[in-house]
Amino acid sequence: MCGIVGYLGPRVATDVVVGGLQRLEYRGYDSAGIAIYDPKEGLQLRRSVGKLIGLIARLHLEPARGHLGIGHTRWATHGGVTEINAHPHRDASGQVVVIQNGIVENYLELKARLVEQGITFVSQTDTEVIAHLVGLYYAESGSLATAMRQTLGELRGGNAVVAICVNEPDQIVAARLGNAGGVVLGLGEGEYFVASDVPAILDYTRDLIFLEDRELAVITSAGIRITTLAGDAVERRPISIPWDPVAAARGDYKHFMEKEIHEQPRALMDALRGRVDQEAGMVHFEDMRLDDAALRQVDRIYATACGTAWHAALVAKFMIERLARVRVEVDYASEFRYREPVLGGDALLLAFTQSGETVDTLAAMEEARDQKVFSLAIVNAIGSQAARVADGGPLYLHAGPEIGVASTKAFTSMLVVAYLFALRLAQARGTLNAAQMQPHLQALIELPGKAASVIEASMPICAELAEHYHRVENALYLGRQANYPIALEGALKLKEISYIHAEGYPAGEMKHGPIALIDETMPVICIAPQDEIYPKMISNIEQVRARHGQVIAIGTSGDQLLASKADHVISIPATLPLLQPILTVIPLQLFAYYVALRRGCDVDQPRNLAKSVTVE
Ligand code: F6R
Repeated sequence: MCGIVGYLGPRVATDVVVGGLQRLEYRGYDSAGIAIYDPKEGLQLRRSVGKLIGLIARLHLEPARGHLGIGHTRWATHGGVTEINAHPHRDASGQVVVIQNGIVENYLELKARLVEQGITFVSQTDTEVIAHLVGLYYAESGSLATAMRQTLGELRGGNAVVAICVNEPDQIVAARLGNAGGVVLGLGEGEYFVASDVPAILDYTRDLIFLEDRELAVITSAGIRITTLAGDAVERRPISIPWDPVAAARGDYKHFMEKEIHEQPRALMDALRGRVDQEAGMVHFEDMRLDDAALRQVDRIYATACGTAWHAALVAKFMIERLARVRVEVDYASEFRYREPVLGGDALLLAFTQSGETVDTLAAMEEARDQKVFSLAIVNAIGSQAARVADGGPLYLHAGPEIGVASTKAFTSMLVVAYLFALRLAQARGTLNAAQMQPHLQALIELPGKAASVIEASMPICAELAEHYHRVENALYLGRQANYPIALEGALKLKEISYIHAEGYPAGEMKHGPIALIDETMPVICIAPQDEIYPKMISNIEQVRARHGQVIAIGTSGDQLLASKADHVISIPATLPLLQPILTVIPLQLFAYYVALRRGCDVDQPRNLAKSVTVE
């Protein structure tokens, strides 16, 4: 959710930077700060906790003057919401300041190394690691760009980093690593802008350059020079963003669905923000109104939702039962209240909803309230009805607006929040101690980066598969355990946007009926990552092959056996078994998208569907 803005040019930098940050307020944040440089005044840092209005008030009392500056709105990840943890962060010499969006996956390692070298940390943030590294490398080379290249070469994760240095007073260096944090450069008349998101600078320019993964831009009053992190020159012409606000919001993408699929790494990171404390081995939900004692009392959870959100609830059942050892029943919200459920005093209702306005889900929450059962809502839309009526509090996804009717980023974000909730419950109930939490937290931190690599690797394969299969009339999706709901979700995505009939099945059930459908015309999408059920999935694939079905397999990278059995394979990186669904679903979203595109369907507004279903 963090925002980045930078400016170099004749205007008052403070106005441009703070104004740009205000444009990004919708993304949410809990503190803000700016660094402005002026040859006479030197480096002026102003930071404050809370909303930008606090920073603005501070700037009235202590103005920051200059024509070069960077600013940041922070949504806490590592370290609490304090002025010291707010960006920008300085290196030990005080010459370099940096701001960052993203998560430094290996910050504990890097911090330990820097502490050993005698560096004293003043904040609890991962970003301070970057500031010190840049400072140390700058002392060796005397070049901010070189120091940034060396530093980013050591970071693991998805990061957007922007730095300035008092010894290079006419320069901003911005870099992007991975796909979790975007960097856009704006070109004006003799002035330059940097931002994490387009809206921050649209008041000044529509001529934009987007940095790609592992690229770095050196911005001076003479122009912008882009290189790779390895130092090779990159030629990139600016693109012009249209003035139409809808097209502008869609940015570089053809459809909102495509944009939202690509936004997933960042959305996953935003879902983690402020909730993971790696050093303490703990999970926090600031917005949850249930304390440890209340969580210990929960004996049963009713997870309820509709459509894609219902698939998220099905995956959540696996997460909560395995990690926290609490029973979970999953209901379609539209069925829940009509079955006269017997809830009981120590039950908890967990509603999943992107819009927070789905009438059936709201009715299920009402049923819980009537039976004096606490409810929690895993919800995206801030201030929506579900967020307001959940008495245990909304657990927000922080995924940003989802416009495409077919839900994508909200689904994967729901899975991340459900996993965090399962860990929070496990922490309260003592089924996982701090040390046992560590591998889960590390795997979560690595997830946005892995999602980015899945998107990149599966795009060309899915486009090619769509070319091959877009004329089929039916498709079957198979998965087992937590990947069974992913089979359902893959089938739903395909049918809702391409109008191809598709079924999702638990693979073990295939021989009890659906196997009759398989012939050489039937694509069977098999989700088969290497987990404990993998050998069974392989035998299911054999059963499909024996009937001449065409196997499209989603499996773990490097799986030769699977490759030998499938007609096509899409690989995902290894992760913890219960986190796999967050990665395996991504190629299915892309496959559905490319098939719909190839069939000429209206991807963002498929027929008969609405984004928010407020009628029964
Ligand atoms: C499918 C889809 C729908 C929604 C369902 C619930 O892509 O988007 O199935 O998941 O209508 O909507 P929310 O999550 O807003 O309650």
